[in-house]
Amino acid sequence: MCGIVGYVGKRDAYPILIKGLHRLEYRGYDSAGIAIVNPQGDLNIYKCRGKVFDLEKFTQDKDVSGTAGIAHTRWATHGEPNDVNAHPHYSESRSIALIHNGIIENYAVLKEALVENGYTFQSCTDTEVLVQLIEYIKSTTNCSLFEAVQSALKRVVGAYAIAVVEKGNYDEIIAARKSSPLVVGMGDGEFFLASDATPIIEYTDQVVYINDGEMALINRSKPLKVVNLDNVETRIGIEKLEMSISQLEKGGYPHFMLKEIHEQPKTIVDCIRGRVAADGSNVVLSGVLANKDKFLNARRIIFVACGTSWHAALIGEHIIEDMCRIPVEVEYASEFRYRNPIIYPDDVVIAVSQSGETADTLAAVEVAKQHGAFIFGICNVVGSSIARATDSGAYIHVGPEIGVASTKAFTGQVTVMTMIALTLAKEKGCISQPEFTEVAQGLLALPRLVASALELDKQIKDLSKIFTYAHNFIYLGRGYNYPAAMEGALKLKEISYIHAEGYPAAEMKHGPIALIDSEMPVVVIATANNIYDKTVSNIQEIKARNGRVIAVVSENDTQVKDIADYCITVPEAPECLMPIVVSVPLQLFAYYIAVNKGRDVDQPRNLAKSVTVE
Ligand code: AGP
Repeated sequence: MCGIVGYVGKRDAYPILIKGLHRLEYRGYDSAGIAIVNPQGDLNIYKCRGKVFDLEKFTQDKDVSGTAGIAHTRWATHGEPNDVNAHPHYSESRSIALIHNGIIENYAVLKEALVENGYTFQSCTDTEVLVQLIEYIKSTTNCSLFEAVQSALKRVVGAYAIAVVEKGNYDEIIAARKSSPLVVGMGDGEFFLASDATPIIEYTDQVVYINDGEMALINRSKPLKVVNLDNVETRIGIEKLEMSISQLEKGGYPHFMLKEIHEQPKTIVDCIRGRVAADGSNVVLSGVLANKDKFLNARRIIFVACGTSWHAALIGEHIIEDMCRIPVEVEYASEFRYRNPIIYPDDVVIAVSQSGETADTLAAVEVAKQHGAFIFGICNVVGSSIARATDSGAYIHVGPEIGVASTKAFTGQVTVMTMIALTLAKEKGCISQPEFTEVAQGLLALPRLVASALELDKQIKDLSKIFTYAHNFIYLGRGYNYPAAMEGALKLKEISYIHAEGYPAAEMKHGPIALIDSEMPVVVIATANNIYDKTVSNIQEIKARNGRVIAVVSENDTQVKDIADYCITVPEAPECLMPIVVSVPLQLFAYYIAVNKGRDVDQPRNLAKSVTVE
């Protein structure tokens, strides 16, 4: 997810664009850039790795005059965060500059055709391909910039919100969107453009939301024009902004964590985009396929991770062993790095890290590299230290996760692990096509199932009021639901400060059941699976000791709903995907209890989003 802003009007563009980037920095912050057209028609482009602050320092002594311009703060998807890959990207003649939020899925095919027509590229981004394509169309058909953009977008597959400016064209910005947000602010003789309303609201509360498949021609001295890609003009609906700036950065949610919980249907789409065939017949994870022999001939797969990422790795262990019959171990990175582990050159080590900067996980990677193991990364932040330290990897593409408590990254990690298992099982020939398709179609259905689970929001909010003042919690689950129970407990403890522990449900009899009384609430994940009856027995054991049970059950549950004190019903999915579905109500449960207790949900005490120290 990146942030884009634009301005054309009567004021200097530079301060408006820079301030707008600061408002959008929550969307991405690994590099930034700006392009301004001055009154002489010069197109000045400045960009650099780093935050918006670094861009300000970089442009201190530059010509940033002009009242028309665009600017971008990046969350890398294709191409490391560096000066060259930063936006704006410009055409070969440097006469067109473009900024982009989204992913051009067919950029490789488009790039190949442009190379054949003699084009050269500075960066390895998908975005540069688009601006070069626009120039190619403009130069070969002698059409207007607007027409060239329109024609280029008809050839694009993927998601985009773009803004384009042109040398010598002092009055215009051309914008367009598909699957990525874009809004135009309607000022008095001036126009604002942004990924959301936060950069706009201090100038005007009159906005036009550009719809999917639409383009906007923004000219300082003409009315806004909005058309579709067939150039059919669409009615412009001006809306009035009602929200405060701080709310807008959170998309109207009170906390980033709640926003990110509710983003999960979309982030799962982003995670599987271009990787799972629309009919579920195939899964393509390029990093795995390119190194399939390493995986298929591996003596073992060893996951190294911390916290929530370690819980995701436990699920990865289960699904890869179950589906691919490859031995898997899961290690706390902090323990692995210091205990002189036995690592073989034919081991594959998978490092799991949302931030890609966790010191213990990075150190564990280095230990594994010293022993010659093949290192694979599952990260969210493109170009992060762990991502750069690995031999290959798969990004989870869930966008910046701002809330310290990991939510959408967890579901993204489990989604990627499922795709790894499917890819390897198919290559190894140890999964039937029907079994493969069932799980792959389960992945395709996940956004809908997670959206359905999010409809529990009100029920969970009401339930949280009953347990706000509990002093302890136990979370239980079996099989795939055991790591989900551990993750649910971590969510609660890290944002509400209530002590909570996750256990395999069968483990209760080996000690923890001594804790059960009427003061000990127990969350039991009891969804339908081959050990459901055993979990039912565990619930009965708890009830026999006056424990209060909150059960997470499947839609067609037959027994638990008559035993548990409270039931949370979630939709069915393939068993290996249920940790993703059940984690949604548990995330909400932790969130609302923390809010009830007045906690700093996004920045809980003592914690940091990325533990870059030991
Ligand atoms: C999870 O909610 C916590 N924020 C924490 O456990 C986190 O998962 C852990 O620090 C690992 O972070 P990473 O995924 O960025 O490596």
